[in-house]
Order: sequence, then structure tokens, then C-alpha cells
Amino acid sequence: MSSFQIIVGSMLGGTEYVAEACEEQLILLEHQVNLHLKPDFTSILNDTFAQNTTKKSVWLICTSTHGAGDFPDNIQAFVSDLKNCEQDLSSINFMIIAIGDSSYDTFCKAGKELNILLKTKGYSELSGIRTLDMSEDIDPEELAQQWLNQIKDRL
Ligand SMILES: Cc1cc2nc3c(=O)[nH]c(=O)nc-3n(C[C@H](O)[C@H](O)[C@H](O)COP(=O)(O)O)c2cc1C
Repeated sequence: MSSFQIIVGSMLGGTEYVAEACEEQLILLEHQVNLHLKPDFTSILNDTFAQNTTKKSVWLICTSTHGAGDFPDNIQAFVSDLKNCEQDLSSINFMIIAIGDSSYDTFCKAGKELNILLKTKGYSELSGIRTLDMSEDIDPEELAQQWLNQIKDRL
């Protein structure tokens, strides 16, 4: 059993539904889950290290992309704090669900940028980024749950 922090970047709310579906699935898989709809870097770190240290710590970041490849407003401060953080966070594992629309050249750019940033910072990638294309994927919540199920042995 791992301890998950689900970190959500969303402007219009769609990504929140995906994150909630992930929360539901992870609880079914018997993990411990905290959902952060208004991500605050310090509280997420506190929640991460407050858990029993024998549990694997995982950050699942679910973020859409807005503007011209920008992060949603609600996750911008988190990303900036992450960039500025000098603490060794290599014990934290991460995985990303990036939500976007493939009609944009900057398809899922926010999630892809975060993926690179976390790797650069020394976090361990549990699974390659999962992109969801809102112009094609009819049931993103179901797809996100299926993905978690497919990689459940790594969680
Ligand atoms: C103004 C606007 C700009 C967008 N820009 C991008 C973009 O650059 N890249 C991308 O992949 N998707 C882009 N999208 C698509 C959104 O990421 C997609 O609609 C997503 O489902 C929104 O998630 P949310 O409801 O959680 O905010 C944009 C959508 C809007 C409305």
C-alpha cells in the first residue's frame, strides 16, 4: 500500500473529475489518498512526510493545459515552489496524467513540462506520462482508472 498525494491543475473543472476517479480507483486498490484541488506545495510536503515512512510516497499529478501551453492558474504557485525547492525529494515517486486537446500545437504541454521538471529534480518516475485527449477520448475518467489498473503492480 502506498500513500498518494493527488495534485490537481484545472481551470474549468474537467480535470477534477479525472482526479476524483483516480482517487476512487486508488482507494479500491487499497492505497491511502489525499486529494489536493488547490495545491499548496508546503502542505503537500507536510502530508507526504506525515505518513508512515514505511509506505511508498507517490505524487499523482493530474493537470490540464491552458492558454498557449500554460499551467492552469490554480497550480502555478505549486510549480513555482517546486522549481525553487532545494530539499532532497528523491524519496518521492511521481506519475502524471496530462489532459489537453490535440488540436493545440501545445498538446498537454503543462503535464509534459512537469514531467521533465520532476525528473530533473530527482523524483522517481513510477510510470511514463499518460496523456488524455479531450477532443477524442470519450470517457477520460474511465481511461484514467483503466490506466491505474494496468500499472497497479508498480504502485
Ligand atoms: C482557452 C483554452 C486554452 C487551451 N489551451 C490548450 C493547450 O495549449 N494545450 C492543450 O493540450 N489543451 C489546451 N486546452 C484544452 C484544455 O486543456 C481541455 O479543454 C481540458 O479538458 C481543460 O481541463 P479543465 O476543465 O480541467 O481546465 C485549452 C482550452 C481552453 C479553453
